[in-house]
Amino acid sequence: MELEHIAARLGVPAGEIERVHRLAGDRPSAEVPPVSAAPAILERLAVRADDAAEIQAGWPGADSPLWTPELRWLLDRSTALVRADLGGYGWLAPGPALPRYFVYVYLALVDVVTAYHRDRGIPGEVTRATLADLGRNLAVDRRMRGEGWPVMQSWLTLHVRGGLYELGRLQYQRGDTTIDLHIPEAGPLTPAAIDASLDEARAFFPRHFPEEHYEGFTCGSWLLDPQLLDYLPADSNIARFQRRFEILPYEEPEGLDADVETRRFVFRTLTTPLDQLPRDTVLQRAVIDHLTAGHHWQWRRGRLR
Ligand SMILES: CC(C)(COP(=O)(O)OP(=O)(O)OC[C@H]1O[C@@H](n2cnc3c(N)ncnc32)[C@H](O)[C@@H]1OP(=O)(O)O)[C@@H](O)C(=O)NCCC(=O)NCCS
Repeated sequence: MELEHIAARLGVPAGEIERVHRLAGDRPSAEVPPVSAAPAILERLAVRADDAAEIQAGWPGADSPLWTPELRWLLDRSTALVRADLGGYGWLAPGPALPRYFVYVYLALVDVVTAYHRDRGIPGEVTRATLADLGRNLAVDRRMRGEGWPVMQSWLTLHVRGGLYELGRLQYQRGDTTIDLHIPEAGPLTPAAIDASLDEARAFFPRHFPEEHYEGFTCGSWLLDPQLLDYLPADSNIARFQRRFEILPYEEPEGLDADVETRRFVFRTLTTPLDQLPRDTVLQRAVIDHLTAGHHWQWRRGRLR
């Protein structure tokens, strides 16, 4: 099939299809499991009922009319592209940000990454908790009416490449010299839960990745913006989390707008005008008032040993 034809039929820029073609080459793909296996797999991945129903209705079965030859090509080659980087830990765009085809890429790679975990002696509970971030992301994206998906599909490639592990309250992304922390939306960020999770991570990586050597943890987040301390109580979970880190000097983040990211995580919408956002919590009021006054939020990086 001509790449330009595929791009035109999918309604995406030709460059994106050429990139998938180049990165995937003729590398092996992986099969999406049969639809009969869907209920058990989706439950295991913590996919909520409404998302599970939608995913099952759109399953790429052999005779599904929703799945044009072009879309099947994309599913196959995106899967190959992500699989080719098994063991990698950088952010990776799996292909054009079309609504949710990436879910099936993820499902196709569950067995592949599970075997990778097993080879490293990673306990089944960690595999399960890590991969269940799919359900959490789909639920958030539903709240965001699809606005979250382009970032999520790159994010979720980490899980199926063995680049990220959920250990208790936090997620840990392998890196060259440090491990990057991520904070899933999973209830309050209590100090005790963070302590327990960090302890788990300090034991996990030397045990399962003995050839990798880390100087400590890093984190990049809206949660590390010191301006938040002007608004939040000193004993709030966010303030206490922030105080654990040595906050590094401000650097303009590349390709990322901190105001947009803060709105993503505090309101789960990127487009609702400021004056229509809810003011239910002290944080929501802080974010709105700060922006309304013409100030900006910062995406900051911190270091933790
Ligand atoms: C990080 C997180 C778990 C912190 O929640 P928490 O433990 O409840 O935080 P705190 O106890 O410090 O909250 C202080 C205040 O801010 C509010 N608040 C905290 N996070 C909030 C959020 N994401 N949206 C709206 N309000 C929030 C709390 O309700 C509280 O206000 P209140 O006293 O008026 O109720 C939460 O913000 C969250 O789930 N965020 C989404 C994930 C995320 O941002 N990850 C980092 C990506 S870089």
